[in-house]
Amino acid sequence: APEHVRLKALPKAEIHLHLEGCFEASLIAQWARAECVALSRPQEDLFKFSGLADFLGFLDLACGLARTQDRLVELSYGLSQRLAANGTGYADVIFNPTHWHAWHGRLGPMLEAIDAGFTAAEQDGLPGVGLCVSLLRTQTADQAIELVDTLVALRHPRVVALSVDGNEAAAGRTGPRFAEAFRKAGAAGLRRTVHAGESSGPEGVWDAVELLGADRIDHGVRAIEDPVLVQLLAEKQIPLGVCLTSNLVLGVYPSIDLHPIERLRQAGVPVSLNTDDPALLGASLVGEYALCRQTFGWTDAVTATVARTSIAASFANAELKASLL
Ligand code: ADE
Ligand code: ZN
Repeated sequence: APEHVRLKALPKAEIHLHLEGCFEASLIAQWARAECVALSRPQEDLFKFSGLADFLGFLDLACGLARTQDRLVELSYGLSQRLAANGTGYADVIFNPTHWHAWHGRLGPMLEAIDAGFTAAEQDGLPGVGLCVSLLRTQTADQAIELVDTLVALRHPRVVALSVDGNEAAAGRTGPRFAEAFRKAGAAGLRRTVHAGESSGPEGVWDAVELLGADRIDHGVRAIEDPVLVQLLAEKQIPLGVCLTSNLVLGVYPSIDLHPIERLRQAGVPVSLNTDDPALLGASLVGEYALCRQTFGWTDAVTATVARTSIAASFANAELKASLL
């Protein structure tokens, strides 16, 4: 069978994927027309970003258009269809409430709407999803604790983890600021995943491990700049949710040859492949696997090991994990 067919059939999960990154350009244009919102660029240039800050600003615009329950259902159902198209058996999906202006102060109803889309998808035989509710890097310590308290009070069964994303370059060092919120989340039984080592260097990854109790690091690739940290990630077997196309499109690395994923993998760090924001950044999970095989010469055995790592590193329950492997 052709390679993309075999890569689709490979048992795998996705562990670094944002709901905010699953808007099709046509959907944004359609909703903007319905809302009489003028887009600052023509539809064909909508997804040309100059870097992470520009990209994050665009998320506010796109998510701001999703004002109704129906639109959230359409988005989350569409995400599940995208998973199925890549043969992904399960995904941990990051969702950051700060980007969705129309829903501020209504986290419960917002979770219900997103959950309705994923539940409908599962009932139609599409892959399962767990939600990682995310802080933005620029929020305060009090806002972080308030989010955790709200999540603990809601106890929504779809929510599996606390996350933090956004621009570390804009926020400075934030490990100490969020330590208490992450401690509370862990004590309440939530898993913990932290964006670091993308817009921060190794120091952001150190803080994620030492101050935030991260079960997993989203990106984490700039850990390569500190050999002691690489050794720690390997020893503790802390998985990285690596996103190659995202790193290239948003300018973390200028070319795939300079990307450290293969050096991290060979050092024994558990690496996984992910799309981050697939619609906005033009990535597909099958495409990420194909890129590694082509660039780094991954054999079938290496490819299968990385895919198994993605399942093992996911926050799916033990029963679901066993059924995916
Ligand atoms: N939110 C969505 N995608 C992101 C990324 N790659 N880095 C930080 N925050 C994000
Ligand atoms: Zn991300």
